[in-house]
Amino acid sequence: MKKREQFSGNLTVILAMAGSAIGLGNIWRFPYIVGEYGGAAFIIVYFLACIFIALPIFFAETVIGRRGGMDTFGSMKRLAPGSSWYKVGLLTVISPIIILSYYSVVGGWSIHYLLKSFGVAFGQETGHFGEFISSVEAPLLAHTVFIALVAAVVLAGVKKGIEKFTKITMPILFVLILVTVVYSLTLPGAGRGVDYLVKPDFSKLSGEALMAAVGQAFFSLSLGVGTVLTYASYMRKKDNIFLSGVGTAGFDLLFALMAGFAVMPAVFAAGLSPSSGPGVVFETLPFIFGKMGSDAAWITICVSGVFFLAVLMAALTSAISMLEVGVAYLVEEKHIKRSRSVLYLVLFAWAVGLLCSLSFGPLSGVHILGDTIFDFLDKLCSNWLMPFGGLLFTIFVGWKMPSADVLDEFSNGGDKPLNVRIYPVVRILIRYIAPIGIVLIFLNSIL
Ligand code: PFF
Repeated sequence: MKKREQFSGNLTVILAMAGSAIGLGNIWRFPYIVGEYGGAAFIIVYFLACIFIALPIFFAETVIGRRGGMDTFGSMKRLAPGSSWYKVGLLTVISPIIILSYYSVVGGWSIHYLLKSFGVAFGQETGHFGEFISSVEAPLLAHTVFIALVAAVVLAGVKKGIEKFTKITMPILFVLILVTVVYSLTLPGAGRGVDYLVKPDFSKLSGEALMAAVGQAFFSLSLGVGTVLTYASYMRKKDNIFLSGVGTAGFDLLFALMAGFAVMPAVFAAGLSPSSGPGVVFETLPFIFGKMGSDAAWITICVSGVFFLAVLMAALTSAISMLEVGVAYLVEEKHIKRSRSVLYLVLFAWAVGLLCSLSFGPLSGVHILGDTIFDFLDKLCSNWLMPFGGLLFTIFVGWKMPSADVLDEFSNGGDKPLNVRIYPVVRILIRYIAPIGIVLIFLNSIL
């Protein structure tokens, strides 16, 4: 059998996992909910949600992935032979591919706006965001280009594709977003945007804010869908699980905060009010970049270009991780060649994405349980499938796997003294706190 590919070190693992984590969720969702739920007060709650709920799930997935050393099905079959636990794998193949389908529609928008920043018309040119997304050809073309880029990277394999791509893009992404932050903060009137993000308003910290924090932590760290598990299966035995979790969550939070400082000061400087959703990122920012800040048109063009390049890169590294989960499954469980696996999954995601894209236009009248196709799939994954997967992973590691095995994996056979010392706390988080947190999310969604 061909030797399984591996990431080449701790830092690579963190970069790849951070690549999966840092995405559209950080750029358009985080800045808005921070302001909505009390600024710095919410950031504190979000931080706690990451530590008490998200990180334990992250550790659970990493332990399964690295110890199992295969895709989700294979790993669970190895760790719980003869049981039905491997069927959880089904969830982790379906969810990421569905997420990929609608995520790549939005990823396509970033390609469109990137080209637009430089004055390149991409398909039929329209002035407004609403008009653009409800048109047929241009968003579909952009969706196709985006998903083709994702396929190309995954096709190249774990080391030559995913590792190489994330190693190059993540540092660039960091610089790009830093440039946008600096530009945004220097706009006249940016201070109110900063206030919006940092002024703690504890009166807004409701139960709803708590749920929003947990939900955001889930989506942002790509939990419950097997991406962390699959990437962990490419970790070397000597890499540090605790460090990868803390590193990934740390980068993710840092990037979310930077995105906040890139977006909100500009929104306030333009005298607009912050609102949720892609509108802020795709409609408001180009308008702001085009109108303000500098007399020199080239500066605004560059800033807009830099910003959308950052959005595109962030989206690509996340989408790649979604595709890799299913590809690992088809290659290892069904023995289908990597190239064919990529082809099948991409065709499926592309076709579902096509419906999602059209659901902003010609198919906007089609509703599933009261939502458009795009919104329905997003809610299905974010509110149900991801938390459900997370719940199953924590139950598996907390209650099914022998504690000694979990400790052995978490501490590399006792080689990492710090990991050994914190393990009792991690165990309580995995067994009790995280599952209870997830059940609360469900109750919140139901009510
Ligand atoms: N974490 C990504 C974001 O914040 O945009 C979204 C995501 C990536 C969700 C990978 C699920 C996944 F498997």
